[in-house]
Amino acid sequence: MRASLIVHGGAGNIPENAAADFRRGVRAGLEAGWEVLSQGGAAIDAVEAAIVALEEDPALDAGVGSHLNRDGHVQLDAILMDGVTLKAGAVAAVERIRNPIRLARMVLEKSEHMMLVGAGAEQFATEHGLRLCDPEKLVTDSARQEWRKTRTKRATKEAVAQEPCGTVGAVAMDERGNLVAGTSTGGTRGKHPGRVGDSPLIGCGCYADSKAGGISCTGYGEGIMKIVMAKMAADLLRDPRVLPAHRKKRGPATIAQAVADACIRILERRAHATGGLILMDREGRPAAAYSTPRMAYGYVDPSGRFVIVP
Ligand code: GLY
Repeated sequence: MRASLIVHGGAGNIPENAAADFRRGVRAGLEAGWEVLSQGGAAIDAVEAAIVALEEDPALDAGVGSHLNRDGHVQLDAILMDGVTLKAGAVAAVERIRNPIRLARMVLEKSEHMMLVGAGAEQFATEHGLRLCDPEKLVTDSARQEWRKTRTKRATKEAVAQEPCGTVGAVAMDERGNLVAGTSTGGTRGKHPGRVGDSPLIGCGCYADSKAGGISCTGYGEGIMKIVMAKMAADLLRDPRVLPAHRKKRGPATIAQAVADACIRILERRAHATGGLILMDREGRPAAAYSTPRMAYGYVDPSGRFVIVP
């Protein structure tokens, strides 16, 4: 099979003057993931490498540069899911992990559990040789400034819901047909301490099934959770006959695109929320859709060229 990769740096109200930073982050994610896949490496290594690169980018809401919660702390969530075994590894509300996707992979591979949170997740990291970081090293000057503004604004629930959300993710298929998806986030700006959104929840912010496809979501987590969006996309990829576009002569170019569009429509109509998703069908065809002003994403086209949006 031909290897395939799609990554995102988040959907939201990305201002024009920040678009170049988001493009740079997406390119770094594609380069890191494609380096693995183009040399015949495994999808799981590619997704981990891509998401580590995205977490390291201070412009994106994951790892370094994440939004701060109401108390001014970074609390991170991540998940990695293997489409062959359907096993996932997820962590939530961790504060001292620089690259939560690495810890999510450890949970996937070394734990009998699928999700660990807070202090217990950090204890697991230490037990398995992943060093804890100084939480202040995850905080950028711009995140601190934004936090100060949010506090003085006394943001309402609605205002927070409309804020740009960020989140990063990747879906990869390797030459052997293994499909893996992952998502990592700092969550919403000014969130309540302990709040966990869609990102690390299996079926909400991420899903992978090599008999259907792989998905990573971004946007307002409380809306995405209502419709269990990633699993919904996987179910539609498995059987797209219920899609209206499937019955139309002139619709989206691929079933994968029709599924992505349908999920975002349902997110808007049924959950009254905005967001985006990237996905890949079981043949490795990528697609993306969003209802926010922008979403930063990119994929590798069949000729090996990087296509980066916006
Ligand atoms: N989609 C990221 C979050 O709501 O936490």
